[in-house]
Amino acid sequence: MTKWSPNSWRNKPILQVPAYPDAAALAEVEARMSTYPPLVFAGEARKLKKQLAAVAEGNGFLLQGGDCAESFAEHGADNIRDFFRAFLQMAVVLTYAGSQPVVKVGRIAGQFAKPRSSDNETKGDVVLPSYRGDIINGIEFDEASRIPDPARQEMVYRQSAATLNLLRAFAQGGFANLENVHKWMLGFLSDSPQAERYQELANRISETVDFMRAIGITGESTHALRETDFYTSHEGLLLGYEEALTRVDSTSGDWYATSGHMIWIGDRTRQPDHAHVEYCRGIKNPLGLKCGPSLSPDGLIELIDILNPENEPGRLTLIARFGAENVGEYLPKLIRAVEKEGRKVVWSCDPMHGNTVTAAGYKTRPFDRILKEVQTFFEVHRAEGSHPGGLHVEMTGKNVTECTGGARAIRDEELRDRYHTHCDPRLNADQALELSFLVAELLKRDREVLPAGKVANG
Ligand code: TRP
Ligand code: MN
Repeated sequence: MTKWSPNSWRNKPILQVPAYPDAAALAEVEARMSTYPPLVFAGEARKLKKQLAAVAEGNGFLLQGGDCAESFAEHGADNIRDFFRAFLQMAVVLTYAGSQPVVKVGRIAGQFAKPRSSDNETKGDVVLPSYRGDIINGIEFDEASRIPDPARQEMVYRQSAATLNLLRAFAQGGFANLENVHKWMLGFLSDSPQAERYQELANRISETVDFMRAIGITGESTHALRETDFYTSHEGLLLGYEEALTRVDSTSGDWYATSGHMIWIGDRTRQPDHAHVEYCRGIKNPLGLKCGPSLSPDGLIELIDILNPENEPGRLTLIARFGAENVGEYLPKLIRAVEKEGRKVVWSCDPMHGNTVTAAGYKTRPFDRILKEVQTFFEVHRAEGSHPGGLHVEMTGKNVTECTGGARAIRDEELRDRYHTHCDPRLNADQALELSFLVAELLKRDREVLPAGKVANG
């Protein structure tokens, strides 16, 4: 393999690149950004990798979630807080049900670039370049907004820094206290139409929290109860931005992406000889790889050879996104190939991207399809004796109406009420928490048949 450097991707074929009209202005922004402080520190990425290694061994569960695309318009403290609140509630439910640590990774503080199926968007007889995410151009359908503007990259850097700053404060400053999170959950239950179903699990968590308090284990006395580790992730799509934030870690001499803790490769840009795979192979961060129906078992092994040649557990998370109808057919073949070759990976389920449909003129995702994909994902892993290691969702803490169904049964006609996403439809806070209760039931079932830390064949 040829020598890697932060810019060696520039010699490879590349898909999904924006056409910046002013190359000099772009180069100037990239040069400036390469002098900015890193957003994350290499030691944190190593810590995340260690936690993911435990998941790969069957001990733990990865929860990864956030917006499809972050936006400048939705940047504010309330959104960040509401997202984090919903996310932490999901994490508590999953931790308790699985009796396993939950590794918490947001699609946040950097998730701004979107791959598109077409370079152009047509409305009536007007054809304009597609919206590619706020890091590249504007979502408004007019010519000026759609011209890629490099200045947006610096806005993303600053927005990501501010978002990460608040999240770090929340994670370590008391907001994430387990007792708080549990109180929010009780609030959710008091007005959920599905309350009864979840009450039992919630009662058991209540008892546990009360018991701990009675024996003196409280948020004040025990930092593990008061604080949590939270990591950031995004699709490493806009490689000029990533390159500018790629730095040598002085303690190890290794290269790290410092734009976020974990970087994933999308299903559209995972060609083994192309730029995105080239960039990712050289950074030491934990990587994600989206796996859709067009990925063959041999193709997957080829990618694993490139991205994780040392077979380091925690390095690579395979994020399956097949669709509820397809996962039962495609996933077993990939799992068998990985097992046969003895590759250490985390298997995570993205039940969002394979289940997008159009209803009442809106891109949406029916909650029962999302749930079905997750259920089948767990069934397949049980049959193959592998560990269903994670869940990857597009979600928000707000009460949006973007995905249909759920306990509160959002109907097609209601999509227009609060449809705010800049890209794909997200689970709202209720739907996200409901999904975590349903996944909790699956984790509990697995735990009842298998002793902790054991996979069926292991
Ligand atoms: N520190 C533990 C953990 O992160 C327990 C914990 C504290 C927690 N606050 C939390 C778990 C909020 C989930 C959500 O797992
Ligand atoms: Mn999406």
